[in-house]
Amino acid sequence: MNFPTGEETGDYLAIDLGGTNIRVILVKLLGNRKFETIQSKYVLPKWIRTSTSNELWLFIAQCVKTFIDEEFDYRDSSDDPIPLGFTFSYPAYQSRINSGVLQRWTKGFDIPGVENHDVVPMLQNALKSLGLSVVVVALINDTTGTLVASTYTDPETKMGLIFGTGVNGAYYDTISSIPKISNALPLDIQEDTTMAINCEYGAFDNNISVLPRTKYDDTIDSESPRPGQQSYEKMISGYYLGELLRLVLVDLHHQGHIFNGQAIRKLNEPFIMDTSFPARIEEDPFENLCETGELFNSLGVETTVPERELIRRICELIGTRAARLSVCSIAAICKKRGYKKAHCAADGSVFTRYPYFRDRAARALRDIFQWGHSTPDLVTIVPAEDGSGVGAAIIAALTKQRMANGESVGLDEHGQQDRGGSN
Ligand code: BGC
Repeated sequence: MNFPTGEETGDYLAIDLGGTNIRVILVKLLGNRKFETIQSKYVLPKWIRTSTSNELWLFIAQCVKTFIDEEFDYRDSSDDPIPLGFTFSYPAYQSRINSGVLQRWTKGFDIPGVENHDVVPMLQNALKSLGLSVVVVALINDTTGTLVASTYTDPETKMGLIFGTGVNGAYYDTISSIPKISNALPLDIQEDTTMAINCEYGAFDNNISVLPRTKYDDTIDSESPRPGQQSYEKMISGYYLGELLRLVLVDLHHQGHIFNGQAIRKLNEPFIMDTSFPARIEEDPFENLCETGELFNSLGVETTVPERELIRRICELIGTRAARLSVCSIAAICKKRGYKKAHCAADGSVFTRYPYFRDRAARALRDIFQWGHSTPDLVTIVPAEDGSGVGAAIIAALTKQRMANGESVGLDEHGQQDRGGSN
């Protein structure tokens, strides 16, 4: 509920369980809007997405242990447990900052026994089973972390956005505009107090009534572990762009337009092409698109130059649609909050690595807001601070402060304000 002042200090651990990697980060908040970080990144093996709950939490705890063993000897420093901010980038119900009940997995995760459960005790128990003196003080979403970390360094930040394996955004709203809080208990907080809202807008248009869709969008959805969920995300996020391309190509092949006479065995495998495929094809600098040709050779497919030109055009369409649809969420938040100007702090693999995404997104914002030729970009997408690491640490620091001041950190199981006594 607090804005960071930039003066928060202290050492915090953060874990970022993203769609593709897990990062463990030691964040030293130095105050004066400055910080230092040490981090290690561990690739999430593919099998983890469909493993068991125990395997997942132990894998994460093991990464934390490896990091602590390699990066610093916490046993010498103090007997106090190390406070940890956990960035868990999936939709969760949160009635307290140190709890989060997973609503549903997204981004291809499908691990039984976690949905509808609080993930904090699961992680805490796994850390304990490895003998780690670490306490999970805050659970956050990557977008909230991005918002808070970027506000720490840039007070003009109005939202934190992720354009990556998944998509989502967070912004600050006033308590009075949040019906489920303002209608609830007589909390001892002022109506104009602000709170970070995780929109979970990847789930926008789940009832399929707004966005124009293709048959490929329908296939992605029906073949996913959670059909009918994350409709918007499935059209624009990094987890799906390569798969969209694959589905179009397989369809064109079936219709007899491309790769004639070839078996395309590999190309028939779902998710064989990740988003680096359309990204590299869009970036192919050669007139005959020979790099694209090599990419397809690696999948056992021979291509002609006209076929490669067609493939490039399809990638441009997929990438442009993703960028233009992506910024609709920015415009929606601006409209809701009445922002005429905004710094929108963004992170995620599509934002940082997909070619032309930034230009296309900026162009689309100009189209939506209809700024005249002489008007500069008023709502700009800027690279974010590391939300999942630094953001998680700042939120952990703010939570510690709230607890020290005896302020509420949420509601306990009886619906009473929890001042963090037992945690
Ligand atoms: C999740 C969000 C997350 C986003 C970006 C989505 O699939 O539902 O919680 O913020 O991915 O990581």
